[in-house]
Amino acid sequence: STGELILGIESSCDDTAAAVVAEDGTVLSSVIVSQASLHDRYGGVYPEVASRAHVDKAIPAVRMAIEDAGIRPKDLRAIGVTRGPGLIGSLMVGVDTARGLGQGWGLPVLGINHLRGHLRSADLNERRVSYPALILLVSGGHTLLAHMRDQDTISLVGSTRDDSVGEAYDKVARMLGLGYPGGPVIDRLALQGKDRFGLPRPMLGDGLNFSFSGLKTAVRRLLESDPNLEAADVAASFVAACLDVLTQKCERALVEYPSESLVIVGGVAASPQLREVAGKLCESLDVKLCLPPLKWSTDNAAMIALAAWDYVRAGQGTDLAPTSRLSIEQ
Ligand code: KG4
Ligand code: ZN
Repeated sequence: STGELILGIESSCDDTAAAVVAEDGTVLSSVIVSQASLHDRYGGVYPEVASRAHVDKAIPAVRMAIEDAGIRPKDLRAIGVTRGPGLIGSLMVGVDTARGLGQGWGLPVLGINHLRGHLRSADLNERRVSYPALILLVSGGHTLLAHMRDQDTISLVGSTRDDSVGEAYDKVARMLGLGYPGGPVIDRLALQGKDRFGLPRPMLGDGLNFSFSGLKTAVRRLLESDPNLEAADVAASFVAACLDVLTQKCERALVEYPSESLVIVGGVAASPQLREVAGKLCESLDVKLCLPPLKWSTDNAAMIALAAWDYVRAGQGTDLAPTSRLSIEQ
């Protein structure tokens, strides 16, 4: 095919997304059908509910993305679809949809690592990242640090031993009765409170790995000790502890792995508080801070399409088998 655009499809968790992206990262359309309202009552993502919703929404999302972009299938060069990591049933729906469309339209289909997609989100609509780069990926499923010598060479240098930071936000939100997803609500509430409970900063002085389950437990104990605490102060204390850990680890990693850019991606990169402290850190270290546009920090298909372009440009095929586990290095 000689088209100049890639269709991206993302269904690894609770959002069904489709997007059309040009090789330079220009996003022609990006459709995200959120299932948050379906999962709200469970305080997290309910896998069977998620895959059934993807079945209903995948084709309509693709149709809408193509319509919004004002293009026809013959304008496409390829289809990129998330093959992992994520919920296996949800991934299967996305990959099957992409396979069917690829066959019908005569297009190659590329299986994309969702984490690689987040990474590339920092170059959507505008090239931002310069190498070498340090990556902080903070999402609902992952919390990790990676170093990239160039766009194709990545090594994992730290990760969480237990919960991801996004998961901690979601669980604390649930404890406070705030619904799902927790990130945005916790952020907003934290702005009205004070960091006054001295919550633990797990593994602060210890290498480049993370741990957030101890912090989550500390919040639970705090709430049990006094049910009448001001929720805003609990949120502010929790956010302050998370940010201390994230910024200190970034600083240490930047010393160990000198980099031109610090790239912060994944759902938690939508946090205004995190964006602010990261800005200060980068200013003091004279490092370029690269953030995805706010709307593409959380899961989307534009980042998947941009990641697919890397393979098309290199003339490389990919594995297409859905898999719940996949490292950022794969
Ligand atoms: O990247 P993402 O959309 O999905 C995964 O790949 O996991 O990340 C979702 C996570 C959720 O845990 C959500 O609470 C968190 O990102 N999140 C935020 C914010 N928006 C979403 N966390 C902090 N502040 C936010 N504004
Ligand atoms: Zn994600």
